[in-house]
Amino acid sequence: MTSVPKARVVVVTGISRGIGRSICHQLATGYAGPLVLYAASRAGKLPDLDPASVSTTVKIIPLALTITEQASVNALASRIRTEQGCCDVLINNAGVYHYNEVASKDQRLETYNTNFHGTVRHDVVEGQAVRRGWPRMAYFPSKAALNAATRILARDNPDLLINCCCPGWVDTELGGQAGRPPKTPEQGAAIPLRLAFGNIKNINGRYWANDSVSDIGPGKTQPW
Ligand SMILES: NC(=O)c1ccc[n+]([C@@H]2O[C@H](COP(=O)([O-])OP(=O)(O)OC[C@H]3O[C@@H](n4cnc5c(N)ncnc54)[C@H](OP(=O)(O)O)[C@@H]3O)[C@@H](O)[C@H]2O)c1
Repeated sequence: MTSVPKARVVVVTGISRGIGRSICHQLATGYAGPLVLYAASRAGKLPDLDPASVSTTVKIIPLALTITEQASVNALASRIRTEQGCCDVLINNAGVYHYNEVASKDQRLETYNTNFHGTVRHDVVEGQAVRRGWPRMAYFPSKAALNAATRILARDNPDLLINCCCPGWVDTELGGQAGRPPKTPEQGAAIPLRLAFGNIKNINGRYWANDSVSDIGPGKTQPW
């Protein structure tokens, strides 16, 4: 008698649009094998998927999640624990980018709170951040902090595989602020999907990216 393989439990955040929506589409329509896909967005709605295109082995569950609110994150964790026991893969895609010359205090706070849970709040007093040496845009240091956190999380959780990536410059609401991005959302989903489901030979705690913005390859570990 063949046993039915256990479904993998996957959480993708920020699925309302852009790369997150594409990751969700690609998993829902192309994942081979049983999958329970928790599709998390602030609105808690499913992405606009043709039900006929969803693989018969994939079950999608919409979830409301605001990653800047601890109660919302706790509610998601406890729901997954109750319904599934654990989560196999988390693609933490939600993010913001205020493409301004100088971020306002609120934008700076939102960027750190969203992209990196606000560890530098003490330095974002109105008008002080740039004077104290933070770059004019808040986006880049918020993501650099995430690279550092990835190393530490991987070191402290040796049973988990934890990596972070830059998906490239991708034609989404976020990426389009800075010009005309060369990558489609489908191409932007490639590196996150590879890190979550590809054979990356247990490489852990690293930052992955392409060598240049015009490169649409599967990414590689980059010195950081
Ligand atoms: N596009 C690029 O060129 C590029 C380049 C490098 C890195 N990235 C990274 O790739 C990721 C996805 O980017 P994208 O281009 O797909 O951006 P996008 O189209 O603007 O989508 C961002 C997603 O994040 C969600 N989000 C924002 N704040 C949130 C919060 N507090 N709680 C929960 N969800 C929140 C948004 O949900 P709502 O609909 O609720 O706002 C939306 O679904 C981001 O982490 C971004 O930094 C993108």
